[in-house]
Amino acid sequence: MRLMQSLQPSSSSGSGSSAQPKNVEEAKKKKYEFWETQPVPKMNDDAPIPRDVNEPIDPNTDVAKVRKEPLPLPEGFIWVAMDIDKNEELQELYTLLFENYVEDDDNMFRFNYSRDFLQWVLKPPHYNTAWYVGVRVAPKAGATKPGKLLGFVSAIPSKIRVYDKTIAAVEINFLCVHKKLRSKRLAPVLIKEITRRVNLTGVWQALYTAGVFIPKPVSTCRYYHRSLNPKKLIEVGFSSMSRNMNMTRTLKLYRLPEAPNKTCGVGGQSLRRAVKGDLKAMYGLFTAHMAKFDLVPVFEPEEFAHWILPREGVVESYVLEKPNTSTKKKDIIAFFSFYILPSTVMNHATHKEVKAAYSFYNVTGEEHSVSLVDLMADALVVAKNTGMDVFNALNQMENEQFLKELKFGSGDGSLHYYLFNWKCATFEPKQVGVVLQ
Ligand SMILES: CC(C)(COP(=O)(O)OP(=O)(O)OC[C@H]1O[C@@H](n2cnc3c(N)ncnc32)[C@H](O)[C@@H]1OP(=O)(O)O)[C@@H](O)C(=O)NCCC(=O)NCCS
Repeated sequence: MRLMQSLQPSSSSGSGSSAQPKNVEEAKKKKYEFWETQPVPKMNDDAPIPRDVNEPIDPNTDVAKVRKEPLPLPEGFIWVAMDIDKNEELQELYTLLFENYVEDDDNMFRFNYSRDFLQWVLKPPHYNTAWYVGVRVAPKAGATKPGKLLGFVSAIPSKIRVYDKTIAAVEINFLCVHKKLRSKRLAPVLIKEITRRVNLTGVWQALYTAGVFIPKPVSTCRYYHRSLNPKKLIEVGFSSMSRNMNMTRTLKLYRLPEAPNKTCGVGGQSLRRAVKGDLKAMYGLFTAHMAKFDLVPVFEPEEFAHWILPREGVVESYVLEKPNTSTKKKDIIAFFSFYILPSTVMNHATHKEVKAAYSFYNVTGEEHSVSLVDLMADALVVAKNTGMDVFNALNQMENEQFLKELKFGSGDGSLHYYLFNWKCATFEPKQVGVVLQ
């Protein structure tokens, strides 16, 4: 079975940007009118950046030099900061993305970020509402309603460690221009405006991911997909059956136990959904684990709690416990997590949506009482029992350990990681510890 489609979070492959290069060869032939003006590595600089270079491209940190007024917009448009605590504004953002956000190359699927998901991703501790940048049609004189939302981009604060340096940065997400306004150079204006607003707070670096190739990725990871509901995935065209397979054999190949069974019960180990009281132990495991990688988020405990605690239909995390004979309590020895991001099936008579789980942070403790393969085998069962049709994972961190063994198939897209205004050596996927939604 070959998995054909590969929707990538924070990626761009949808209509309007199909002319965007997908790899370095295509990219070298293109002139990047906008990106060549930005503090990012040059596309044609072939010399690899040595490992001891790890620093800003533009060293300016003087906020006084940052432009005070918003960038000019074409006549008839205005800037707004979207208030996502207001139901109507959250709904407007939801609709813009529902109708215009990332599609796969064949325009069969489009991400459908739920309102609850947007609230989760856009409101981590210390979020800044000025960074929910919207472009609206300017309202006519006397109008009682705001003009239609036609463009958006967001930033959230994020501390990241790049090799041995920890920097205050932002994560950029949800860059979107309405289909009717594509190819009119509005995206560069949105990017410059969010940069300005972030710079005004004394932050000069950003992390972002995209399916398209722009100057210049610091890493390129691949998506892998594990069918949980193969029949539906084949019916909607997400995956196809290879010639020597039939449906019965395909279903058998991907069959999963009804309940998590590998980690459960071994040496008294048991798996359960994470709760607040688990956070301290999980945070300890997480920070020790992240030390293994070179591009990682540095979470404060309250940020970790925000990202990892389960939210119905948005993010799930499960802990694995083991009895401790000396303390007579249970120790948390591992956890897995995934976030839930459905995609709209754009033209299908019966199926409207594919429900996808995306591997988030998975940690096994140093004592190795459980392997990552066994832990993730249970994650698949939990995801299936949560109603997911497919489980997606990048080949980052230690994920290669379980991808083949657990019957993940390689997708056909790449996810490029980018750092704005930072110069450093590139990362192998296994060095990349950060997961963006
Ligand atoms: C991505 C999107 C906002 C770009 O807008 P557009 O109308 O297609 O392009 P514009 O004419 O406004 O701007 C073109 C510039 O944006 C750049 N660009 C396109 N996609 C980009 C992306 N995902 N990230 C950063 N820059 C991007 C182009 O490279 C080009 O700059 P260049 O001249 O240096 O090459 C738009 O296609 C869209 O909303 N797509 C669907 C959602 C999506 O893919 N979002 C991006 C998620 S990473």
